[in-house]
Amino acid sequence: MLDWSDTNRPTALPPALANIGDGTGLGAIKRGASRVTVDEKRMINARADVNQLLPLKYRWAWEKYLAACNNHWMPTEVSMQADIALWKAPDGLTEDERRMVKRNLGFFAASESLVANNIVLAIYRHLTNPECRQYLLRQSFEEAVHTHTFQYIVESLGLDEGELFNMYREVPSITEKAAWALRHTQSLDDPAFRTGTPEADQQFLRDLVAFYVVFEGVWFYTGFAQILSLGRRNKMVGIAEQYQYILRDESIHLNFGIDVINQIKIENPDLWSRAFQEEVRGMLKDAAELEAAYGRDTMPRGLLGLNAALCEQYMHVIANRRCAQLGLAPVFAEAESPFPWMSEAMDLKKEKNFFETRVIEYQNGGALAWD
Ligand SMILES: [Fe+2]
Ligand SMILES: [Fe+2]
Repeated sequence: MLDWSDTNRPTALPPALANIGDGTGLGAIKRGASRVTVDEKRMINARADVNQLLPLKYRWAWEKYLAACNNHWMPTEVSMQADIALWKAPDGLTEDERRMVKRNLGFFAASESLVANNIVLAIYRHLTNPECRQYLLRQSFEEAVHTHTFQYIVESLGLDEGELFNMYREVPSITEKAAWALRHTQSLDDPAFRTGTPEADQQFLRDLVAFYVVFEGVWFYTGFAQILSLGRRNKMVGIAEQYQYILRDESIHLNFGIDVINQIKIENPDLWSRAFQEEVRGMLKDAAELEAAYGRDTMPRGLLGLNAALCEQYMHVIANRRCAQLGLAPVFAEAESPFPWMSEAMDLKKEKNFFETRVIEYQNGGALAWD
């Protein structure tokens, strides 16, 4: 059994470990402390200086930072002309399709902010590793790009911004999801919250599960399936293209979260008790059920190739997949994915024209003339 109490820690810490006492990176500088070694780096509760990126310990975090930078995109570079024409044409979309699109946008518009706020205000402080923080900084920017996407869509289509950005408070099936996730970040929001006890460390893990695994790794996927299904039928193709880029970003966010949780498990095996594993499985089960209610609310009658029952089945497949990634037993009976084309959509190739032109543009933009 690990001893967690502060009073039982060695009173005279080795010099490098005593470098930055509070783990935030903003504590007083310890002059003359020795340099950080890889062995001293830890995901949580590290006493090593978090301002020293090198030497790297978690290469997977650095690789994800590099991959994310290579995926740079901006929503305004996607043409919205076809979407505007279709949205404004009286018989361009059915009422059911319009409801689905609006609720989908409303869910994402607020969710991107909730996820960003959770990273910056809750996760960042307690993840005491510089290479993971480097990725979090990149991810925070990507969440800003995603929020920008919804601003751009609202502006392009002339949507009611108040209606869209308030759906997370006004549409019950969306509110239920946001409220569920926020419950898991509230204790971290307390300025007095500190990791370092089993209870607090598990609380931190609950937040990671709620936001990385459930929000970004389960709920976003029905949202992607809804819009990409329209795109496959040549409807709202601009939004569908933006969603493909968001999906590519989000799949790295999810995998980063899974790697963080699994690494914390390795370093703190006592946290991942049988009871806690059951709790996490329960969280995934609840999340899939909340999503089923959202599916019924956004698609009460079903659309071409898409309906609430198929989305529920898809959620079961995704929830089981997330369980497997965390080393947990599945929570639902095994089922086939009703949307096999989703894996294709996630395979966005860089050779696409959009990116060819953009990469060149960025290189030109980066060549600054100083004289
Ligand atoms: Fe996002
Ligand atoms: Fe994300």
